[in-house]
Formats: sequence, structure tokens, C-alpha cells
Amino acid sequence: MPDHLPRRQVLRTAGALGLGAAAAGALASTADASTQASSTAGTPDKSTSHAPDKLTGMGAHHGKLEIRKDPFGTTPDGQKVDVYTFTNGRVTISMLTWGATIQRVETPDRRGKTTNISLGFDNLPDYAALSPYFGATIGRYGNRIAKGKFTLDGTAYQIPVNNGENALHGGTLGFDKKVWKAKVVQSDKAVGVAFTYVSPDGEMGFPGELTSTVTYTLDKRDDLRIDYHATVAGKPTIVNLTNHVYFNLLGEGNGTIYDHVLELNAPKYTPVDATLIPTGEIAPVAGTPFDFSRPTAIGKRLRGDHQQLIFGRGYDHNFVIGGQPDSNGLRLAGRFWEPEHGRTVEVLTDQPGVQFYSGNFLDGTFLGIGNKAYRQGDAFAFETQHFPDSPNHSNFPSTVLRPGETYKSTTIYSFGTK
Ligand code: GLA
Repeated sequence: MPDHLPRRQVLRTAGALGLGAAAAGALASTADASTQASSTAGTPDKSTSHAPDKLTGMGAHHGKLEIRKDPFGTTPDGQKVDVYTFTNGRVTISMLTWGATIQRVETPDRRGKTTNISLGFDNLPDYAALSPYFGATIGRYGNRIAKGKFTLDGTAYQIPVNNGENALHGGTLGFDKKVWKAKVVQSDKAVGVAFTYVSPDGEMGFPGELTSTVTYTLDKRDDLRIDYHATVAGKPTIVNLTNHVYFNLLGEGNGTIYDHVLELNAPKYTPVDATLIPTGEIAPVAGTPFDFSRPTAIGKRLRGDHQQLIFGRGYDHNFVIGGQPDSNGLRLAGRFWEPEHGRTVEVLTDQPGVQFYSGNFLDGTFLGIGNKAYRQGDAFAFETQHFPDSPNHSNFPSTVLRPGETYKSTTIYSFGTK
């Protein structure tokens, strides 16, 4: 094996990872698929295609909901991490108890060819050491808090900073780096996992003991639904939970997302300063590269001279979702379409905002699950949320949660083809 490759490739043996036979088989078929893909690079079909039943031993019948659990690894302090794989026979999702992380999302293209469209790794050490939040459940506070500081009921709190001078995604050891408890949930309509994590009072500087349960379910209509639920004990706190799945609808590792077409239901956005902290302004998108009210290729205006795009090195902004909620309280936040193979994903949420991030900080320094280096623009994230740095902006919707109150939120990623 050439020695210039990042270490994750060296780690690719079932023995070194302590994986069970089934997971080892899954690794083997992943490796086969990526070998084939590199030998056909440059041909029009860039999908790394493999049937879900090869990967998981499931998925033979569309509409049949199935779930299985396999060991994934062990943390240095001895905690076992599992991978749950659930399918409706067409879409197959793998999730780790590490960070309640979406590891794989297998969906068919318009010709029925299935591939993994989510960026990630095949082993726990890489998640722990390298992951820029791939697929992770983010908490206690998604996105940035200026200088890690906020005041609640007259008391000042300090979150450890981990993004220049700011705190990002819950500080240095956020919920993405915790092992969550998992419980299978299954009905005749949907299958998935409820993940629970109890964050002690004072963890990462946040007040109050926060119990979060985040339930991920896949139904027969190819909707991946995320239900967030949290309560706090002892003290009031701030909460902003989200998921940081990175998608490339061509298949992960298959190029950039610049030709994906995006339509956003967002008349406004929250401009940022050079450290990506909102200025407090809620600005109209009309007449700017932030206007996706008509379907537009993500790459079309991305390298323009707009100051906000220069600050973000692309899109890395919170959009304010518009329109009226449906009877379930949900609004369409946006829809993505990859024209070549036809995959679509629509995102519905009850949250006021969404962080649209065009993968600007992916820099090619490591390989992902399919053995490809992830570079700038190789994926997008679409993180439904309250606005960044809300605790420091009284004009933004509040993220305060008090004892006795319940934080509840729902986001749906709806997969399809066009
Ligand atoms: C969010 C942030 C980005 C980046 C990613 C993770 O989307 O807004 O700036 O930090 O998380 O890499």
C-alpha cells in the first residue's frame, strides 16, 4: 500500500477495527464499489452503484421496513459504538451511536441505480479525529456563539471556543462527539432509532442538565424524519439542535455540488461579519447571490465578489425561512435537484432558519468512506436551526429553554427523483 495515503486507508481492515463479520462484509463491498468507480472515472455515469441488499443483507422488497444493528467500534475510553442500518427497500440509512450520526444514505437515481449520497467514514477513529461534523447530531447549540459568551437571567456563561474566537456547534466536545443511547422504533409506517443523550449541568459551560432525544425514522415514502425533543433540569439553558448531514446527490466523492439546482424558500438571510457571526441585520435576498427563490445552480454565483460570499468562502449563511406552515407546522425550507442523475431532496422544518453551507472548508486532506478526498464544494449541508448567535441578538427568535418547558422540533429530508 503506498505510504503517502492518509492513515484511514491503512486502517481499512476488519480486524483492526474490531468489526463483526456483517460489517466487515459491508466494508468489503464498499471497497469494491470505490475501486470500480475509480477505474471508470471520466465516464458519464459517475455513480458508485451497489444494491442495498449487497451492503446490508436487506432491502430485497420495496416497502418492507427493516432494521439491523452491528458493532462499529470502541472509543479509547471503552464505550462500544454501534451502527444501525434501516431500510424501506429503496432508501437505506446507516446511523452510528457516536454523535447520533447519519453515516450513509443510499438512494436510487432516476434509473434506479442506488448509491451513498452522504459524506462520512467507515471507521470510528476517523470520525473522532477528522470529521467536520459529517452527519452528526449537533448540540447543545448548533452553529456559532460569538466569543463563546452569552448572558442568561443576568448570569454570564463561557463556552470553550473552537472556531477562531467563537464557539461552534456546542464547543470543543459537543454532542457530535458523545456516544448516545439507542432504541429501535418501528411501526407499520416507519422504522428508525431514538437516540438519547444526557448532558450534565455545566458541560461545555452550558447551564442545566439537558436530556435530548432525537428520533430518526424512515417511512415508506422515502422521508427521513428527525424529531428533536429536549428538557432541562435545574437551570434555564439555551438549545439549538440540528443535524449536519453533508449531501452530494451525485454520490459522495463524485465531484462538486456546483451543478446541483437549489430552490430556497427564504426571502431573507442573516449577513455575517468576517468571523461568520451574524451582524444582527435581517436582510432581503432580492438582488443578491443569496436569492434562490427561482431554481438556480449552486455554483452560478458562488465565486462572485459579494462581500458575504468572500467572508464565507462561498455559502455559509443562515437563511430565514418564509411562507406559512402546513397543518403539521412544517414549511418547505428548500429543495435540491441534481440534473444529471435526477436525485432530489426536499427539506421541511418547523425551525425559523436553515444554514446553507456549500462545503467551503473541505480541503482534500483526508479520504472519505468511498476512498476519495473531499475537496471544497464536494457537498452541501442544510442545517435547520434557530439563527446563529441568537443568545446575543434580542431581535432573533429566542433559544432559551426553562425547566418545565419542552423543546420540540421536526425536520424532514424527503428523497426522490426528477
Ligand atoms: C457549519 C458552519 C461552517 C462549518 C461547518 C463545519 O456549517 O457554519 O462554517 O464550520 O459547520 O465544518
